[in-house]
Amino acid sequence: MNISDEKILEKLTELERDCGEMMLRAHRIMAETKSGRRDVVTEYDRRIQEIMVGELGAFLPGTRFFCEENDLQESLSAEHVFVIDPIDGTMNFVRGFNHSCISAAYMRGGELTASAVYNPYTGEMFTALKGGGAYLNGRRISVEDAPLSETVVCFGTAPYYQDLTDRMFDMTKKLFRASLDIRREGTAELDLCSVAAGRAGLFTELMLSFWDYAAGMLLVQEAGGICCTSDGGPLPLTGEKSSVAAGSPKAMADYLRIIRE
Ligand code: IPD
Repeated sequence: MNISDEKILEKLTELERDCGEMMLRAHRIMAETKSGRRDVVTEYDRRIQEIMVGELGAFLPGTRFFCEENDLQESLSAEHVFVIDPIDGTMNFVRGFNHSCISAAYMRGGELTASAVYNPYTGEMFTALKGGGAYLNGRRISVEDAPLSETVVCFGTAPYYQDLTDRMFDMTKKLFRASLDIRREGTAELDLCSVAAGRAGLFTELMLSFWDYAAGMLLVQEAGGICCTSDGGPLPLTGEKSSVAAGSPKAMADYLRIIRE
Protein backbone atom coordinates (compact mmCIF):
# COMPACT_ATOMS: atom_id res chain seq x y z
CA MET A 1 0.00 0.00 0.00
CA ASN A 2 1.32 3.43 -0.93
CA ILE A 3 0.65 5.93 1.86
CA SER A 4 2.85 9.02 2.02
CA ASP A 5 5.04 9.84 5.02
CA GLU A 6 2.96 13.03 5.47
CA LYS A 7 -0.26 10.99 5.85
CA ILE A 8 1.48 8.61 8.25
CA LEU A 9 2.69 11.54 10.35
CA GLU A 10 -0.82 13.00 10.40
CA LYS A 11 -2.16 9.68 11.70
CA LEU A 12 0.56 9.46 14.37
CA THR A 13 -0.16 12.94 15.70
CA GLU A 14 -3.93 12.29 15.77
CA LEU A 15 -3.44 9.06 17.72
CA GLU A 16 -0.93 10.56 20.14
CA ARG A 17 -3.24 13.49 20.91
CA ASP A 18 -6.11 11.07 21.64
CA CYS A 19 -3.96 8.79 23.80
CA GLY A 20 -2.49 11.83 25.57
CA GLU A 21 -5.99 12.52 26.93
CA MET A 22 -5.86 9.12 28.66
CA MET A 23 -2.61 10.11 30.35
CA LEU A 24 -4.10 13.39 31.55
CA ARG A 25 -7.16 11.62 32.98
CA ALA A 26 -5.10 8.85 34.64
CA HIS A 27 -5.66 8.24 38.31
CA ARG A 28 -4.62 5.53 40.76
CA ILE A 29 -1.69 4.62 38.58
CA MET A 30 -0.38 1.23 39.69
CA ALA A 31 3.16 0.34 38.68
CA GLU A 32 4.37 -3.19 38.03
CA THR A 33 8.07 -3.91 37.78
CA LYS A 34 9.70 -5.50 34.71
CA SER A 35 13.47 -6.20 34.66
CA GLY A 36 14.03 -4.64 38.12
CA ARG A 37 12.62 -2.16 40.65
CA ARG A 38 13.44 0.88 38.49
CA ASP A 39 11.93 -0.58 35.31
CA VAL A 40 8.18 -0.04 35.62
CA VAL A 41 5.07 -0.41 33.49
CA THR A 42 1.43 0.58 34.03
CA GLU A 43 -1.89 -0.40 32.52
CA TYR A 44 -1.73 2.95 30.65
CA ASP A 45 1.50 2.00 28.84
CA ARG A 46 -0.11 -1.26 27.73
CA ARG A 47 -3.46 0.30 26.78
CA ILE A 48 -1.90 3.14 24.74
CA GLN A 49 0.33 0.67 22.91
CA GLU A 50 -2.67 -1.58 22.16
CA ILE A 51 -4.66 1.35 20.75
CA MET A 52 -1.79 2.61 18.60
CA VAL A 53 -0.90 -0.84 17.28
CA GLY A 54 -4.57 -1.61 16.50
CA GLU A 55 -5.19 1.71 14.72
CA LEU A 56 -1.91 1.76 12.80
CA GLY A 57 -2.31 -1.88 11.78
CA ALA A 58 -5.71 -1.04 10.27
CA PHE A 59 -4.34 2.15 8.66
CA LEU A 60 -1.34 0.41 7.06
CA PRO A 61 -2.16 -3.30 6.73
CA GLY A 62 0.84 -5.61 6.94
CA THR A 63 2.97 -3.11 8.84
CA ARG A 64 5.35 -4.41 11.54
CA PHE A 65 5.86 -3.05 15.05
CA PHE A 66 8.81 -2.59 17.36
CA CYS A 67 7.37 -1.52 20.72
CA GLU A 68 8.39 -1.32 24.35
CA GLU A 69 5.61 -3.42 25.87
CA ASN A 70 4.22 -6.95 25.45
CA ASP A 71 7.33 -8.33 23.69
CA LEU A 72 6.12 -6.88 20.39
CA GLN A 73 9.48 -6.51 18.67
CA GLU A 74 9.35 -7.45 15.01
CA SER A 75 12.07 -7.10 12.39
CA LEU A 76 13.10 -3.53 11.60
CA SER A 77 14.11 -4.49 8.09
CA ALA A 78 10.46 -4.91 6.99
CA GLU A 79 9.15 -2.40 4.43
CA HIS A 80 6.91 -0.61 6.99
CA VAL A 81 7.67 -0.53 10.73
CA PHE A 82 6.37 1.61 13.59
CA VAL A 83 8.68 2.05 16.59
CA ILE A 84 6.55 2.96 19.60
CA ASP A 85 7.17 3.88 23.20
CA PRO A 86 3.62 4.30 24.53
CA ILE A 87 4.85 6.25 27.57
CA ASP A 88 8.44 7.40 27.67
CA GLY A 89 9.14 8.54 31.21
CA THR A 90 7.01 5.91 32.93
CA MET A 91 8.68 6.58 36.30
CA ASN A 92 7.74 10.26 35.97
CA PHE A 93 4.18 9.21 35.06
CA VAL A 94 3.85 6.90 38.05
CA ARG A 95 5.23 9.50 40.45
CA GLY A 96 3.21 12.46 39.18
CA PHE A 97 6.02 14.53 37.70
CA ASN A 98 3.83 15.49 34.69
CA HIS A 99 6.75 15.12 32.31
CA SER A 100 6.33 12.11 30.02
CA CYS A 101 5.46 11.63 26.38
CA ILE A 102 4.07 9.32 23.73
CA SER A 103 6.65 8.58 21.09
CA ALA A 104 6.38 6.98 17.66
CA ALA A 105 8.67 6.73 14.67
CA TYR A 106 7.96 5.27 11.26
CA MET A 107 10.59 3.39 9.26
CA ARG A 108 10.22 2.82 5.53
CA GLY A 109 12.58 0.24 4.07
CA GLY A 110 14.84 0.34 7.14
CA GLU A 111 15.13 4.15 7.24
CA LEU A 112 13.53 6.56 9.73
CA THR A 113 11.22 8.80 7.70
CA ALA A 114 8.63 10.25 10.11
CA SER A 115 8.35 10.81 13.82
CA ALA A 116 6.03 12.37 16.39
CA VAL A 117 6.63 12.92 20.11
CA TYR A 118 3.76 14.33 22.18
CA ASN A 119 3.91 15.79 25.67
CA PRO A 120 0.27 15.89 26.80
CA TYR A 121 1.06 18.02 29.86
CA THR A 122 2.29 20.95 27.77
CA GLY A 123 0.40 20.18 24.56
CA GLU A 124 3.72 20.17 22.69
CA MET A 125 3.79 18.01 19.56
CA PHE A 126 7.25 17.55 18.05
CA THR A 127 7.26 16.21 14.48
CA ALA A 128 9.81 15.47 11.79
CA LEU A 129 9.82 14.15 8.25
CA LYS A 130 13.00 12.93 6.60
CA GLY A 131 14.30 15.79 4.46
CA GLY A 132 11.39 17.97 5.59
CA GLY A 133 12.68 19.52 8.82
CA ALA A 134 11.61 19.35 12.46
CA TYR A 135 8.64 21.18 13.95
CA LEU A 136 7.07 22.04 17.30
CA ASN A 137 3.31 22.52 17.02
CA GLY A 138 3.78 23.28 13.33
CA ARG A 139 6.57 25.83 13.84
CA ARG A 140 10.01 24.97 12.44
CA ILE A 141 12.67 24.29 15.07
CA SER A 142 16.44 23.96 14.93
CA VAL A 143 19.30 23.18 17.26
CA GLU A 144 21.15 26.11 18.83
CA ASP A 145 24.70 25.79 17.56
CA ALA A 146 26.46 27.07 20.66
CA PRO A 147 29.57 25.66 22.35
CA LEU A 148 28.99 23.43 25.35
CA SER A 149 30.10 26.23 27.70
CA GLU A 150 27.09 28.30 26.59
CA THR A 151 24.43 25.64 26.83
CA VAL A 152 22.59 23.21 29.12
CA VAL A 153 23.14 19.44 29.02
CA CYS A 154 20.42 16.81 29.48
CA PHE A 155 21.53 13.38 30.60
CA GLY A 156 19.95 10.03 31.37
CA THR A 157 21.13 7.80 34.19
CA ALA A 158 20.73 4.45 32.34
CA PRO A 159 18.82 3.42 35.50
CA TYR A 160 18.51 -0.28 34.64
CA TYR A 161 22.27 -0.81 34.18
CA GLN A 162 24.09 -0.47 37.51
CA ASP A 163 27.41 -1.44 35.95
CA LEU A 164 27.30 1.91 34.10
CA THR A 165 26.57 4.10 37.15
CA ASP A 166 30.15 5.17 37.97
CA ARG A 167 30.99 5.90 34.34
CA MET A 168 27.75 7.84 33.92
CA PHE A 169 28.31 10.07 36.97
CA ASP A 170 32.00 10.64 36.10
CA MET A 171 30.99 11.76 32.63
CA THR A 172 28.13 13.90 33.98
CA LYS A 173 30.51 15.68 36.35
CA LYS A 174 32.76 16.59 33.42
CA LEU A 175 29.77 17.79 31.40
CA PHE A 176 28.50 19.85 34.32
CA ARG A 177 31.88 21.58 34.61
CA ALA A 178 32.01 22.22 30.86
CA SER A 179 28.45 23.55 30.42
CA LEU A 180 26.01 26.06 31.94
CA ASP A 181 24.21 23.34 33.93
CA ILE A 182 22.81 19.82 33.67
CA ARG A 183 19.26 18.36 33.68
CA ARG A 184 17.97 14.84 34.44
CA GLU A 185 14.38 15.09 33.25
CA GLY A 186 13.41 11.41 33.04
CA THR A 187 12.43 10.90 29.40
CA ALA A 188 15.02 10.37 26.71
CA GLU A 189 12.64 11.26 23.88
CA LEU A 190 11.74 14.64 25.40
CA ASP A 191 15.44 15.26 26.10
CA LEU A 192 16.12 14.71 22.40
CA CYS A 193 13.24 17.09 21.58
CA SER A 194 14.86 19.68 23.86
CA VAL A 195 18.04 19.38 21.79
CA ALA A 196 16.06 19.67 18.54
CA ALA A 197 14.30 22.79 19.84
CA GLY A 198 17.56 24.42 20.96
CA ARG A 199 16.65 24.34 24.66
CA ALA A 200 19.55 22.02 25.47
CA GLY A 201 22.78 21.79 23.52
CA LEU A 202 23.45 18.14 24.25
CA PHE A 203 21.83 14.94 25.50
CA THR A 204 23.60 11.76 26.44
CA GLU A 205 22.78 8.41 28.04
CA LEU A 206 24.93 5.28 28.20
CA MET A 207 22.22 2.71 27.42
CA LEU A 208 18.86 3.11 25.72
CA SER A 209 16.43 0.91 23.84
CA PHE A 210 15.64 1.83 20.25
CA TRP A 211 12.08 2.95 21.15
CA ASP A 212 13.61 5.45 23.62
CA TYR A 213 15.47 7.35 20.89
CA ALA A 214 14.19 6.45 17.38
CA ALA A 215 11.71 9.34 17.07
CA GLY A 216 14.02 11.85 18.75
CA MET A 217 16.93 10.83 16.55
CA LEU A 218 15.09 11.92 13.39
CA LEU A 219 13.95 15.10 15.15
CA VAL A 220 17.50 16.06 16.13
CA GLN A 221 18.87 15.29 12.65
CA GLU A 222 16.12 17.24 10.92
CA ALA A 223 16.75 20.15 13.30
CA GLY A 224 20.38 20.29 12.13
CA GLY A 225 21.90 18.27 14.97
CA ILE A 226 24.04 15.15 15.22
CA CYS A 227 23.00 11.84 16.77
CA CYS A 228 25.56 9.13 17.47
CA THR A 229 26.72 6.63 20.09
CA SER A 230 28.32 8.09 23.22
CA ASP A 231 31.79 7.66 21.69
CA GLY A 232 30.87 9.22 18.36
CA GLY A 233 30.04 6.09 16.33
CA PRO A 234 26.99 5.55 14.12
CA LEU A 235 23.74 4.71 15.91
CA PRO A 236 22.34 1.29 15.01
CA LEU A 237 18.95 1.15 13.26
CA THR A 238 18.65 -2.57 13.86
CA GLY A 239 16.91 -2.50 17.22
CA GLU A 240 19.74 -3.29 19.59
CA LYS A 241 20.28 -1.23 22.73
CA SER A 242 22.87 1.52 22.42
CA SER A 243 24.44 4.49 24.11
CA VAL A 244 23.28 7.79 22.60
CA ALA A 245 24.74 11.26 22.33
CA ALA A 246 22.93 14.01 20.46
CA GLY A 247 23.60 17.68 20.08
CA SER A 248 24.32 20.66 17.93
CA PRO A 249 27.53 20.42 15.83
CA LYS A 250 29.49 22.73 18.16
CA ALA A 251 28.29 21.12 21.40
CA MET A 252 29.00 17.64 19.98
CA ALA A 253 32.55 18.62 18.99
CA ASP A 254 33.19 19.88 22.54
CA TYR A 255 31.57 16.77 24.03
CA LEU A 256 33.70 14.36 21.96
CA ARG A 257 36.86 16.25 22.89
CA ILE A 258 35.97 16.08 26.60
CA ILE A 259 35.18 12.36 26.67
CA ARG A 260 38.35 11.53 24.73
CA GLU A 261 40.59 13.52 27.10
C1 IPD B 1 13.21 5.57 30.13
C2 IPD B 1 13.35 7.07 30.05
C3 IPD B 1 14.49 7.52 30.94
C4 IPD B 1 15.79 6.84 30.60
C5 IPD B 1 15.62 5.34 30.62
C6 IPD B 1 14.50 4.94 29.68
P1 IPD B 1 10.79 4.42 29.81
O1 IPD B 1 12.18 5.13 29.28
O2 IPD B 1 13.58 7.48 28.73
O3 IPD B 1 14.72 8.91 30.81
O4 IPD B 1 16.76 7.21 31.53
O5 IPD B 1 16.85 4.77 30.20
O6 IPD B 1 14.37 3.54 29.69
O7 IPD B 1 11.22 3.15 30.48
O8 IPD B 1 10.18 5.39 30.76
O9 IPD B 1 10.01 4.21 28.57
